[in-house]
Amino acid sequence: MTKPRLWITRRLSDATLERAQRDYDVEINYDDTPGTADQLIAASAEFDAIIPCHSEHFSADVVAQFSDRLKIVANHSVGVDHCDLPALKGRGIAVTNTPDVLSDATAELAMLLMLGAARHAVAGDRIVRTGAWDSWSPAFMVGKQVTGARLGIIGMGRVGRAFAAKARGFDMEIHYYNRSELPADQAHGATYHADVESLLAVSDFLSLHCPATPETKHLMNAERFALLPEGAIIVNSARGALVDEAALLDAITQGHIAAAGLDCFEVEPGGNPAFAPHDNIFMLPHIGSATRKTRDAMGFRALDNLDAYFAGQTPGDLL
Ligand code: DGY
Repeated sequence: MTKPRLWITRRLSDATLERAQRDYDVEINYDDTPGTADQLIAASAEFDAIIPCHSEHFSADVVAQFSDRLKIVANHSVGVDHCDLPALKGRGIAVTNTPDVLSDATAELAMLLMLGAARHAVAGDRIVRTGAWDSWSPAFMVGKQVTGARLGIIGMGRVGRAFAAKARGFDMEIHYYNRSELPADQAHGATYHADVESLLAVSDFLSLHCPATPETKHLMNAERFALLPEGAIIVNSARGALVDEAALLDAITQGHIAAAGLDCFEVEPGGNPAFAPHDNIFMLPHIGSATRKTRDAMGFRALDNLDAYFAGQTPGDLL
């Protein structure tokens, strides 16, 4: 039987590529450069399936130029804000993502961001590394204690709940905003807020875990930063579009926000150069799900979805 033709747009984990090569007639972009609009359009005529990452943009304009050959876009990501879903579905193209398998890795990274922002990770590392550490004093690099503090979580999906579980290990008092209140066996005692504003008022630490959609763009803007308690710390391991970065910079410069931990930026790759001089902004380059275990699991999940599709079944993560 002829194997379906598959294009893998980026260098996925070795185990993923091995399995893909076994089961598909696969072409892999070993150069690992993000797929361009032209490449996606050309691929739609040559392949039955694509496994892309969030670095490839399936805009309505691009999808409109697709050939009819492409049957499925099996994303290697949980976020699908790089895909115009109505446009893809309108062309009869199945779209899947990789939920669940990256929740722990992303929550772990959010914890790192929160701790790093709270305890001066950027400045501390630098002064040791550069040999500038020449004194010690009780007033030196005093940070904000995480243990026992109030944590606000926006978005109590899988990653938000995984983060809450880790935060419970720090005895944090957990509050959350979500489209709907969680059942008790998922909330584990976290306090529900029916609106974001009420959540912000009690969030000494705030962590974002919702998808980027037109409704959540700049969810955190100047008005909302002002509602956080003085000295609050914000963490974003979800998507850069959730934060108005100019407003965040103002709030940090004015001292209302003590620090931020960011793994996502409005412009990626690259981030925001205006953040660079600020030691109280602890930044990482969108690596929330970047552990070996999770990368394998994401690749396998994308392949599971493809396998189901080509076996005539409904993929488990069909959107
Ligand atoms: C995701 O899965 O959405 C991560 O951000 C990596 O793409």
